[in-house]
Amino acid sequence: MSRITFMSGENVPLEMHKVRMVQKLNLLPVEERAQKMEEAGYNTFLLRNRDVFLDMLTDSGVNAMSEDQYAAMMQADDSYAGSETFYRLEKVLQDTFGLKYFLPAHQGRACEHIIARALVTPGSVALMNYHFTTTKALITLMGGTVEEIIGDEGLKIESSAPFKGDIDIDKLNEAIKRLGKDKISFVRIEAGTNLVGGQPVSMKNIREVSRICRKEGIILVFDASLLADNLYFIKTREEEFKNVELIDIAKEIGSLTDIFYFSARKLGTARGGGILTSDNKLHTKMREFIPLFEGFITYGGMSVREMEAMAVGIRETVDIDVISQTPIFVEALSGELVARGVPVVTPPGGLGCHVDAGRFCDHIPQDQYIAASLNAAIFIASGVRGMERGTLSEQRNEDGSEHMAKMELVRLAIPKRVFTLSQIKYTADRIAWLYNNRQLIGGLEFVEEPSVLRFFFGRLKPIGNWPELLVKQFRKDFGESL
Ligand code: F0G
Repeated sequence: MSRITFMSGENVPLEMHKVRMVQKLNLLPVEERAQKMEEAGYNTFLLRNRDVFLDMLTDSGVNAMSEDQYAAMMQADDSYAGSETFYRLEKVLQDTFGLKYFLPAHQGRACEHIIARALVTPGSVALMNYHFTTTKALITLMGGTVEEIIGDEGLKIESSAPFKGDIDIDKLNEAIKRLGKDKISFVRIEAGTNLVGGQPVSMKNIREVSRICRKEGIILVFDASLLADNLYFIKTREEEFKNVELIDIAKEIGSLTDIFYFSARKLGTARGGGILTSDNKLHTKMREFIPLFEGFITYGGMSVREMEAMAVGIRETVDIDVISQTPIFVEALSGELVARGVPVVTPPGGLGCHVDAGRFCDHIPQDQYIAASLNAAIFIASGVRGMERGTLSEQRNEDGSEHMAKMELVRLAIPKRVFTLSQIKYTADRIAWLYNNRQLIGGLEFVEEPSVLRFFFGRLKPIGNWPELLVKQFRKDFGESL
């Protein structure tokens, strides 16, 4: 993606790709959208894709693939053990991140499972900038706990800090002193910190955390699932890297970490995952679990076709035209919303635009799932499917009480090279309309609440008849328009 200046002086994002295969979309009338939302238990995970207009639930496994990726899939070498595909992928990963060993796993959380099995002991603490839902659930499953040491700026919705995902070095030093290094299973840095709005981590911070971990003998784990966006931000926001090649930035990050893992549903624009390390002991320890939980060590539960696509996708991750599209569209959508007074996370990060549901719906009590309510209302108003990233995505406390999220966000993910600028503008328009009518939105309550990762398939119902009122207002304002 490039930024082009028009004659008027306006800066417009310009796609550096053309679309050669398309999927037809369906925009249902508002009454049917409300009906579908009700049938889905007011949980956007439970909608059927055929009823969704713009799927901004996630970028996971739904980024647009390149022609070279599709071509590579045709030369996959299908064998249970010793497949050439594995060695091709291993070589690309070694060349890109400079790490020695590669363990394949079927997706990001599978890598987290293997790492947690190998490193987490009951009573241990994993320190990290911020948790991700599956990371925390798997560490907890192994008897460990998570402690977040993100800088205070990271938890401010509006900020001008360029790297809100950075670990607070004082908090890191304090935690090491308080807990003692033997109680710490590992320190984890999450690139493009997902749950605080896709906010990046600076190289400066990665270097400093790595230095401390090495000095103390603590393992540093790096979650690279959202590294593509993070690479873009290091290059564009960190002066030192302005003229540094993306591959050299990627290699330096690899060299600073002990364990480097990723969801290839995100990084590499395919479907799979992997763990890299140069440490022979760690490699041996984690390797045992691969055949047990994933598959043989040369495929790890993945299709070889996906592994070929991933190899090409990883190479394309160091192409600025490929990785800039999401951050630039996130900036475009956030900018359109800010211009209309809608509160969003700033500065815009990667992954998607994050609407501040807490402020958008400050009339809804937090225990009525503010972000989930706004997310359902957005679908009714637009057919756009976002993802709740607030209290509903948290696990309850041990005593059964609600664990209130630090931020109530609705994430509108922007998968790489999938949407057009007019679709972005449409999304902004409908959300701005909703903002003007926000008093109509009410809360939600559970009808069916799963005990683990409840946001995936929990079912809810509205408190009052607000969806009906919203549909009425929509018709009044938009007439026959969809
Ligand atoms: N780590 C991060 C930072 C992630 O964003 C994800 C997935 C994972 C790990 C787990 O990877 O899905 O392949 O098992 N994030 C997706 C999302 C689900 O929509 O943000 P996975």
